[in-house]
Formats: sequence, structure tokens, C-alpha cells
Amino acid sequence: MSKGADFAVAMAIIISVGLVAGTATVRAQEAPEAATADAASSEGREVYEAVCQACHMADAKGGGDAGAEIPALANNVHLADKDFMVNVVLNGRGGMPWLKDLLSHQQVASVATYVRREFNAYPEAVTEADVDRVASNGPASPAPPPCTSC
Ligand code: HEC
Repeated sequence: MSKGADFAVAMAIIISVGLVAGTATVRAQEAPEAATADAASSEGREVYEAVCQACHMADAKGGGDAGAEIPALANNVHLADKDFMVNVVLNGRGGMPWLKDLLSHQQVASVATYVRREFNAYPEAVTEADVDRVASNGPASPAPPPCTSC
């Protein structure tokens, strides 16, 4: 438990410093694309790069040493259920830290939308209202839907 709290504090510091710097870098490098991308997807990418990719990797294929397995978020059928994804990000599960103290509901919606679109073929946006609804359903961590291929 305290490991998660320490992580959250560390990430809060990294995000507050890093997102500002990261935004400038992304915009400078990818100005033509950023101009056409919608605000949610660029925010989603910033959150992914600042928070998620340290564990889930830049290609979202996960990894980690034996015993510290990080699941892939790419081509992950669990993410078809957007409430499942939002719930894991808000409340954590196992080795996945809870991020509800760290990210705004808007940021959770943006990163969920980004991961579902960028690394999977789920085009439907996850909205801030979705995150509000899942958050108000309480902290129960969900069991993943059954999956035989991942
Ligand atoms: C400190 C490392 C770490 C960070 C940072 C992290 N995750 Fe995870 N994540 C994990 C681990 C470990 C699991 C597997 C949890 C379990 O079930 O034991 C996981 C599981 C998940 C799952 C469930 C996958 C499935 O198929 O069951 C989702 C969705 C997810 N993470 C999304 C994210 C998103 C989005 C972010 C960034 C906002 C993020 N994670 C940041 C470590 C991390």
C-alpha cells in the first residue's frame, strides 16, 4: 500500500514538472500533426508518455522481469470494456498503482481514449462523464473479463 502512495507522490512531482516540458517537446517535434490532432488525443498521449509508458512501455506491449509481469495494453481485448479500463486506472489492481489521486477525470478519459485508439481498434471516446460515473461506483477493483489469448 505505501509503495503505491510513494509512487503516486513521485509521479505527481514528475507530472507537474514533466507534462509542461513534455508538452513543449511534443509540440515542437510534431507541430503539423499536433495541429490536426484533437485536444483529447494529444493530452492522452502526454499522460501515457509521462505516466504509463514507464511500465507498459512506449509500444504498450508491456514486459518486465519474471514475477513482475506488466500486461500489454496493445491489442488487449479487456480494453473493449471502457469501464474496466477506467476502473483499473482509477483504482489500481495488483501491481498497477491507483491513479485517481494523481490524474484528473479529464486526464483519465484522455489517456483511456488514447490507449484504446492508438494501440487497439476501439474508436469510441472515453469521456469525462464515463470517468465520473465509474468513480462514483466506488473503489472495488474489477476482475478482468475472461481472455484466453492474453
Ligand atoms: C508502476 C507501473 C505501472 C504504471 C505506471 C501503470 N501501470 Fe497499468 N498495470 C501495471 C501492472 C503491474 C498491471 C497488472 C496488474 C495486475 O492485474 O496484477 C497493470 C494493468 C493495467 C491494466 C489492466 C490490463 C488487463 O488486461 O487486465 C490497464 C488497463 C492498465 N494497466 C492501464 C494503465 C494506464 C492507462 C496507465 C497510465 C495512466 C498505467 N496502466 C500505468 C503497472 C503499471
